[in-house]
Amino acid sequence: MKLKKHPLIIAIVGKGGVGKTVITTLIAKAISTSYKFKLLLIDADPTHPHLSNMVNLVPEKSLEKIRTELINKTINKKKDIQTIAESIDFEVYSAIKESKDFSLFSIGQPEGPGCFCPSNALLRKVIESISSDFDVVLIDCEAGLEQINRMVIRSVDTILIVSDISLRSIETAKSIKETAKRYTNYKKIGVIVNRVKGDIKIILDKLREYDLSLFALIPEDVLITKFDLEGKSLINIPEDSVSLQKITDNIKKLLEI
Ligand SMILES: Nc1ncnc2c1ncn2[C@@H]1O[C@H](COP(=O)(O)OP(=O)(O)OP(=O)(O)O)[C@@H](O)[C@H]1O
Ligand SMILES: [Mg+2]
Repeated sequence: MKLKKHPLIIAIVGKGGVGKTVITTLIAKAISTSYKFKLLLIDADPTHPHLSNMVNLVPEKSLEKIRTELINKTINKKKDIQTIAESIDFEVYSAIKESKDFSLFSIGQPEGPGCFCPSNALLRKVIESISSDFDVVLIDCEAGLEQINRMVIRSVDTILIVSDISLRSIETAKSIKETAKRYTNYKKIGVIVNRVKGDIKIILDKLREYDLSLFALIPEDVLITKFDLEGKSLINIPEDSVSLQKITDNIKKLLEI
């Protein structure tokens, strides 16, 4: 398969705890199993950075660490600001951890108290500069609207809004779409309803009412629960698991723009 857009940047967003990191991991597994694309995963969540654990790959350094080190060098005047600024790209590239299937870069958690604005601003620039070295980029975002409002993912092509089977989560999906229209340049947007069990007619009706297109329905999967319980990396989930199969069935559609 040939990608129509290169790089193809996909952001995975949604309310807290709905399964964004799980879905990012399953998509990464589905893409790397079926295609030879150069794939970059970005853990953009500074509060719940679980992607590294789920895909079993630890980045050399986080963006937050790079930022702190550069600030310290500036304060201590070890190097002039121009040299420090020029070293950011090198530092970022060295921080990307590669495996045979994909690479991982992480925003990381701030070391002290304070807001995430500086990290988010830097992350926007990093996404825009490193993505061109990859075919497909998956960004596991922080819960809610903050990174959309702050235009961290403004250069995104496809937005996948993950929702569970609660109305609150669909309401968040609606707000996300409205915000994304204003603050990003997305070309495609869709909802993944995750942890599906029983009758979800109310949810499907709401999606139609809010003009949110359904991308896929992912069932509640006992294997995900088992992996969670045993602390295993989800990337090793068997290919015949119900959740991974559903993602795999939809992967071609995801890679189209
Ligand atoms: N399809 C599924 N079947 C069973 N369990 C699931 C499924 N999807 C997600 N889970 C479970 O739901 C919990 C939350 O998942 P995950 O960490 O991916 O959510 P998140 O949206 O990334 O959360 P956060 O907002 O904290 O980043 C995890 O315990 C995960 O194992
Ligand atoms: Mg997460």
